[in-house]
Parts: sequence; structure tokens; C-alpha cells
Amino acid sequence: MDKLYDETPITFTLEEVMKHSTVNDCWIAVYGKVYDVTNFIRSHPGGMGIINGCGKDMTSLFDSTHAQRPKNELYIGDLIE
Ligand code: HEM
Repeated sequence: MDKLYDETPITFTLEEVMKHSTVNDCWIAVYGKVYDVTNFIRSHPGGMGIINGCGKDMTSLFDSTHAQRPKNELYIGDLIE
């Protein structure tokens, strides 16, 4: 049976992530996945410091400040080379 939708993940390069580096348009890469946290910034339990990660791969910083993986509902695609 045909699949109802394409399961291939959407992918982004770090170059693309870097274009979303402002408080009004903030993507962050963590553990090889890309998250659009724009609408999450104001409710981030760790405060506004999250904006330092906009447009970046901040896996190591995330790893040292968080016990859990990022929220699935903010996931928008996978990071590729
Ligand atoms: C520069 C980037 C970031 C910094 C410096 C940062 C910092 C922090 C800190 C210090 C806390 C602990 C707050 C407390 O327990 O009082 C925290 C909690 C949290 N942060 Fe971040 N954060 C960053 C990015 C992110 C991102 C990208 C996400 C989600 C995609 C995220 C989601 C959360 C969540 C859900 C918590 C609650 C505790 C947990 O689940 O581990 N943060 N953050």
C-alpha cells in the first residue's frame, strides 16, 4: 500500500540554521536535530539566556544545563553537513 505521507525527515545545514539567529526567528540545533524555539523563548524554564543559542549548534551547552532532551513539538528537522 502506498504511504500516506513522505517519511523522509526535512534536513537543514548549519548554514541554514544560522539564518535564524534573532529573538523573533530563533532556530537552535541540539544533538543533530533542529528546533524552532521562537515561540518557546518566553516560556523557557531557563530564562532568556536561550537566545544566546539562536542560529547555533549548542549541543554541548544544552548538555551541561539540561536533564531532558528538547521538546518534540519544537522539532522541525534534522541537521546535516
Ligand atoms: C543557549 C541555550 C540555552 C541555555 C543557556 C539554557 C539554559 C537553561 C537552564 C539554566 C535551565 C535550568 C532552569 C532551572 O532549572 O531553573 C534550563 C531549563 C530548560 N530548558 Fe534550556 N537553555 C538553552 C536552550 C534550550 C533549548 C534549545 C530548549 C528546547 C528546545 C530548552 C528547553 C529547556 C527546558 C524544557 C528546560 C526545563 C528543564 C529540563 O527539561 O531539563 N533550553 N535551560
